[in-house]
Amino acid sequence: MRRHSLTLTLFFAAFGAIAGCRGQTTEDTPIVPIRNMYGQPKYSMQQESMYFDDHRNMRPPVFGVISREEEIDPKIAHGVTDTGYVMVVPPEVVTRAGGMDAMLARGRERFNIYCTPCHGLAGAGDGIVIKRGAGMPPPPTYHQDRIRHMPDGQLFATIENGVRNMPAYGPQIPTQDRWAIVEYVRALQVSQALEKKP
Ligand code: HEC
Repeated sequence: MRRHSLTLTLFFAAFGAIAGCRGQTTEDTPIVPIRNMYGQPKYSMQQESMYFDDHRNMRPPVFGVISREEEIDPKIAHGVTDTGYVMVVPPEVVTRAGGMDAMLARGRERFNIYCTPCHGLAGAGDGIVIKRGAGMPPPPTYHQDRIRHMPDGQLFATIENGVRNMPAYGPQIPTQDRWAIVEYVRALQVSQALEKKP
C-alpha cells in the first residue's frame, strides 16, 4: 500500500515537472488532476451577489470602521469641536501642508478642479454647469456677508457633507485638501473684498 502511494507521488511529481513548467503561456484549458482549491468560487468586481439584500457584492466598510490612515481628531476630520464649528483652520493642517503658501497653491488647484464648475473661478456662483442649466438653483456668491462670516469649520463641513442642493465632496476630496480649499475660498473672499474698496 505504501509502495503504491509512493509510486503515485513520484508519478505526479514527474507529471508536474514535464507538464507544468514549460516556461510558455498557453490558451489551452489546463489539465489539473487534483482540483482541490483550484477553481474556488469568488466574486468579481461589480458582480451581482444573492447573499446580500441589496445584491451588491462590493461592500462598503462596516459602520464605525476607521482606517489606520484616517484622521480621528474631529476638529481636523470634520471641522467641529464639542462646542460647534472650529473658527479657523487648525494650525496642524497648515503645518502638514508645508506652510500657508503651499497650502494655498494646493487649495487653488483643487478648487479649480472641484468647485469652479458650479461656483465659478472667483466664487461668484456662475460656473459653467450653472450657466449651461444644471437644473439646480445657482449657488450663492461667496462674496456676501453670511458666507464671509461663516466659521472655517462650517465651510469645511459644507465641502464634506454638502448642503441642501450641493452634493457632498467628502468621499472624493481628502481631509487635507478640503482644508486647503477652505483657505483658498478665504483668499478669494479677501481678494474680492479688497477690490470693492475705493
Ligand atoms: C454640482 C455643483 C456644485 C459643486 C461642484 C460645488 N458646489 Fe457648493 N454649492 C452648490 C449649490 C447649488 C449651492 C447652494 C445650495 C443651496 O443653498 O441649496 C452651494 C453652496 C455652497 C456654499 C454655501 C453654503 C451655505 O451655507 O449657503 C459653499 C460655502 C460652497 N457651496 C462651497 C463649495 C466648495 C468649496 C466646493 C468645491 C469643493 C463646492 N461648493 C462645489 C453647488 C455646487
